[in-house]
Amino acid sequence: MEEKKFMKQDMIVILDLGSTENTVIARQIRDMGVYSEIHPHDITPDELKALNNVKGIILNGGENRVVDGVPVDVDPAIYNCGYPVMAIDHPTAQCAAQYAEIPGEDVIRAFVFDECKAEANWNMKNFIEDQVELVRRQVGDKKVLLALSGGVDSSVVAALLLKAIGKQLVCVHVNHGLMRKNESESVVEVFRNQLNANLIYVDATERFLTKLENVADPEQKRKIIGGEFIRVFEEEARKLEGIDFLGQGTIYPDIIESGTKTAKCVKSHHNVGGLPEDLQFELVEPLAQLFKDEVRACGVELGLPANMVYRQPFPGPGLGVRCLGAITRDRLEALREADAILREEFANAGLDKKVWQYFTVIPDFKAVGVRDNARSMGYMVVIRAVNTIDAMTATIERIDYDILEKIVDRITTEVPSVNRVCYELTKKPVATIEFE
Ligand code: XMP
Repeated sequence: MEEKKFMKQDMIVILDLGSTENTVIARQIRDMGVYSEIHPHDITPDELKALNNVKGIILNGGENRVVDGVPVDVDPAIYNCGYPVMAIDHPTAQCAAQYAEIPGEDVIRAFVFDECKAEANWNMKNFIEDQVELVRRQVGDKKVLLALSGGVDSSVVAALLLKAIGKQLVCVHVNHGLMRKNESESVVEVFRNQLNANLIYVDATERFLTKLENVADPEQKRKIIGGEFIRVFEEEARKLEGIDFLGQGTIYPDIIESGTKTAKCVKSHHNVGGLPEDLQFELVEPLAQLFKDEVRACGVELGLPANMVYRQPFPGPGLGVRCLGAITRDRLEALREADAILREEFANAGLDKKVWQYFTVIPDFKAVGVRDNARSMGYMVVIRAVNTIDAMTATIERIDYDILEKIVDRITTEVPSVNRVCYELTKKPVATIEFE
């Protein structure tokens, strides 16, 4: 027990016996100010006891305690670990409380505070302090390698690891040449210059664009970009010595999306898929229990700039899937400039805080236009702005026409190779958010 004193936060453990409501309950408890983690039903009493500051357990069985079609139950010894247990379903063993369906907030509150005597001490400051200590204990004096894309998750995990282990963290930022305007520069500025991180910047633009030459099929493009990314990262990893750990910005939704609720499968989904077997690292995933909004709050608490923490989603293949068909350098450059203008005008209009995802796309054809009183051929740029909760369906943002016209004027003036701008109005479904 002495060992656990450094942990700031009390914890309620939810054991997943096949319910679809685990995250709802976890969020409810976190909203009460108490940290809550979801663990698989087959956790052993020893694994449970090894968790820090557990105050109580909720067995969440849903309809009939079934995971992947197989009936499941917890190890009966779990009931004798000394923690209050509440069961949501029809439990067979002795619990402090039993409910056939998800109980109301008042019931959960009574269990958490009266039965478990948990303290409402879950906040980002405490979370960060706890994770810093946990990372230090996991890593010791060894080094951690991290692929820092500049996305929200990898940026927040970098800032957290930096706080925990400073120069023992080695970040690698691979610029695949398909980043948005100033994106790689901002990663270098924030992490190397402002936060003094150990950052290796690799400009692999030529390498990626050469590989992508004349490749028009979207899936083929994705494969090349993904595969090449792993290779560049691997080459950098091989140059380094004494790295034992790999940091990852895995967050809770990634784990849910893996389609399983047991930690065993989670590990195989989030292992370093793609890296060769002789490059073996132990994973460090300090954000693995956070929801996206909590990751952003964590980033703010760690002092990252707002434009990094509230960045809109950006696909891994980057502008590569927005420069349609076979990527050419001139279209890619026009796309990057048009996208920067769109983002700037969205920010000017306050739309950047309202719209979920907004970007430009450049098809692979030219259209006729008139420039300087002469017929000329130019590219067309498409504006796409969508709102969604989960990216499975999406609706269109109704952009004000004055704003649209300003964007069109700026793009056609400041990007000379573009002579038409279209505004895409198709929902998902029947369209997807991206064009490729
Ligand atoms: P779609 O186009 O499928 O996009 O409606 C849904 C969401 O996923 C993003 N997206 C990707 N993200 N790699 C990623 O990391 C990809 O290959 C990829 N394709 C689409 C897209 O931006 C949207 O947010």
